[in-house]
Amino acid sequence: VTDIEFRSDNSAGVAPEIMAAVVAANSGSALAYGGDAATAELERLVREVFENADARVFPVGSGTGANALAVSSICPPWGLILTHATAHMLNMEAGASSMFGGGAVIRGVPGNDYKIHADGLEAALGAVVIGDPHFSQPSVLSLTQPTDRGTMYSLAEVEAVSKIAHDHGLRVHMDGARISNSLVALGCSPADLTWRAGVDVLTLGATKNGALSTEAIVTFDDRAAEELVFRTKRAGHVTSKMRFQSAQLIAYLTDDLWLRLAANANARMARLTAGLQTLGLDFLNRPDVNIVFLQVDEQLKNGLADAGLLFHEFEPGVIRFVTNFQTTASDIDDALERIAALVA
Ligand SMILES: Cc1ncc(COP(=O)(O)O)c(C=O)c1O
Repeated sequence: VTDIEFRSDNSAGVAPEIMAAVVAANSGSALAYGGDAATAELERLVREVFENADARVFPVGSGTGANALAVSSICPPWGLILTHATAHMLNMEAGASSMFGGGAVIRGVPGNDYKIHADGLEAALGAVVIGDPHFSQPSVLSLTQPTDRGTMYSLAEVEAVSKIAHDHGLRVHMDGARISNSLVALGCSPADLTWRAGVDVLTLGATKNGALSTEAIVTFDDRAAEELVFRTKRAGHVTSKMRFQSAQLIAYLTDDLWLRLAANANARMARLTAGLQTLGLDFLNRPDVNIVFLQVDEQLKNGLADAGLLFHEFEPGVIRFVTNFQTTASDIDDALERIAALVA
């Protein structure tokens, strides 16, 4: 049997449009370090797509780099970064935000559906004495959209918690490693989900959704942008051949490619989860985008692996399936057939 890929959207390949853009960019020479025409065009395009004439964009090499540099640009070294207890930034980035933040503290906030809600945020803010140097001072709210667990904030939820954060003098970061999947699922504009909802700095993911080797930080805050000019360089993220990252991002954002790729991943997940439900299997998350978690016993887990399904065992007995821009309808049909044979 052929394997079916559900381990991660990072396991997928590169979208042909993006590979073609890299090849097309490979003629002649250009100024290095982002001084090229493609990087200038990328900034123009980001301003158009996000409907914000002051937005700035900083291509970087990884999502971890984007998150850590983004929050460091809006957080003093004595600052407190509040994020959900399950957030990638807190659990899976080896403290990168603390390091680039000069020792800033990241604290996990509990909340159902893997999201930060008003009560959780108020409680976290209330646990700190403002102005008392014994306490890291609340400086950043970081929202992961969609969450690591495949759920999603509604627009109203982003607005509500961002407003509380701003009212307390915090600035707001969004880890949009998969923001395109949320844009498609919510059917809203990039501007609505970001700066109009209170987001100051965005991690714009691309590699999980068809790019080759780039993510980006998008700022809607001039002070953050000024900091990032230097912070990205010091962190080693200002690459000499940035034009090839910019070419990827231009292709990604042109003609809604990012949304079309994400729409495929979301639609395949919807089909997969509908089929799993028919087979009587239950999920640990509401699968709003392209990620689903299942609790399985050892026998079913081994059966799935033996049947050629590639998945990630997140913790003992909990497995994760992720669809991606390349997942086909027949991948899903095949997978459901193999699973049905196991649960029968
Ligand atoms: C929600 C989220 N944020 C950030 C990252 C970090 O991206 P990278 O692995 O490129 O550092 C990931 C990667 O899986 C992620 O899932």
